[in-house]
This record gives sequence, structure tokens and C-alpha cells, in this order.
Amino acid sequence: MKFKNIIFLKSCKKAADFPKYPYPEFAFLGRSNVGKSSLINMITGIKGLVKTGSRPGLTQAVNFFVADDKLSIVDLPGYGYAKAPSEIRSSFMPMIKSYIAARNNLKLAFLLIDIRRIADEREGEILNLLAKAKIPTAIIMTKCDKLSNNQIQSAIAKTTKAFGIDSDSIFITSAETQKGKKEILDLISNFSSSNSSAKVES
Ligand code: GTP
Ligand code: MG
Repeated sequence: MKFKNIIFLKSCKKAADFPKYPYPEFAFLGRSNVGKSSLINMITGIKGLVKTGSRPGLTQAVNFFVADDKLSIVDLPGYGYAKAPSEIRSSFMPMIKSYIAARNNLKLAFLLIDIRRIADEREGEILNLLAKAKIPTAIIMTKCDKLSNNQIQSAIAKTTKAFGIDSDSIFITSAETQKGKKEILDLISNFSSSNSSAKVES
């Protein structure tokens, strides 16, 4: 799958402003600075579509994109950025929670984890919220260009153990080398056209 035309629709801080449309939706969630926005740029093939940067807490609202008038992609703020001003920081988790609760058209959520980190209770909390809302979820381990193949295998093993999941539910990506692009696009394509739940946690 390849996107021809992606439009930025809107940026919202509260659920009442979220767009209403029937498109199957795909959301990118995870800790601040994990690489959500970079991954969206990678899979869409549009480098500057979403702002990215080394300063954590860059994405501060829920950003909605529509691809080829047939599906939507959502970039969310990241949780866990200790240095953001407190009123901004404390707004991110409620925003993420209200997003998960509000989106009936959410087909698949991607939970991103930096491959150099061990997932902790924050990721557990998000996974629980998604499971409660019955939203299929795929785990993406980002920035794999930072590790050797052996280290990658060890990180996958730790994450499968931490969550009690199968390694088939985990995708390895790099926005630098484009690794994982085809796999993520294939998953989006399968989920846009069917109720497939292959290779993901539900
Ligand atoms: P917030 O919006 O703050 O929640 O962050 P984010 O999760 O959207 O992260 P973003 O995409 O802005 O990337 C954060 C930093 O990590 C940037 O400096 C990116 O260049 C870098 N980065 C993202 N993905 C990769 C990757 O795959 N490999 C490497 N080496 N760096 C990456
Ligand atoms: Mg971002």
C-alpha cells in the first residue's frame, strides 16, 4: 500500500472537537519522544507531514490526518515527559484517555516503545485501556537503528515477557532506515478492509 494524498484535517485538545467521519482510523500512541510523529512521516512517505524533534513533548494535541479519502491516521501527544510545564503535562494523559474512549471508528492502535527501554506500568496502563475499549493493538519497537541485531532480539524477548504476548504481535521499526514500513502499511491495509485481528493483541 502507498498513500497518494494525505491531508491534515485538524488538531484537537478535547473530545468534543474530534472529527466525525466513517473512515477506519489508526492511532499512534506512546511515551513522549518515542518516535510517533517520525513514524507517521515514514509510513506516509511525507517527511514534513508531522513536526518531529529531539525536544520531548512536541506534539501537544491530537492531530487527525486523512489519507486518500479512505482512512485516517492520528498522531497523539506522548505521556511521561517530566520536563513539560505541569499544566501541559497533566493534560496529555486525559487527552489520550478521552481519545481512546471516544473513537468508535478506531480500527487499530499502535503502541510505540523505544527499543532501548523496558516497557513499564505506563505502557501497561495504555494497553489495559485499549483492551477495555476492545481495540486491537500492535506494539511497535522504534529506533531499532540504535541497536545491534542481538540487542534487538533481546529487547523483543524482554517485551514479550513483560506483556505476556507473542513476538508476532511486535513490529520493529526505524524512521532512519525505514525498517518496518511495509509491515506497518500491510497491517493498516488489512485492517482498513476487514476485521482482521491477525498478529495483534485484542
Ligand atoms: P512527542 O511528540 O514529544 O510525543 O514525540 P514523538 O513520539 O512524536 O517523537 P518524534 O517523532 O518527534 O521523535 C523524537 C526524536 O527521536 C526526534 O529527534 C527524532 O528524529 C528521533 N527519532 C524518531 N524515530 C527515530 C528512529 O527510528 N531512529 C532514530 N535514530 N531516531 C529517531
Ligand atoms: Mg510527536
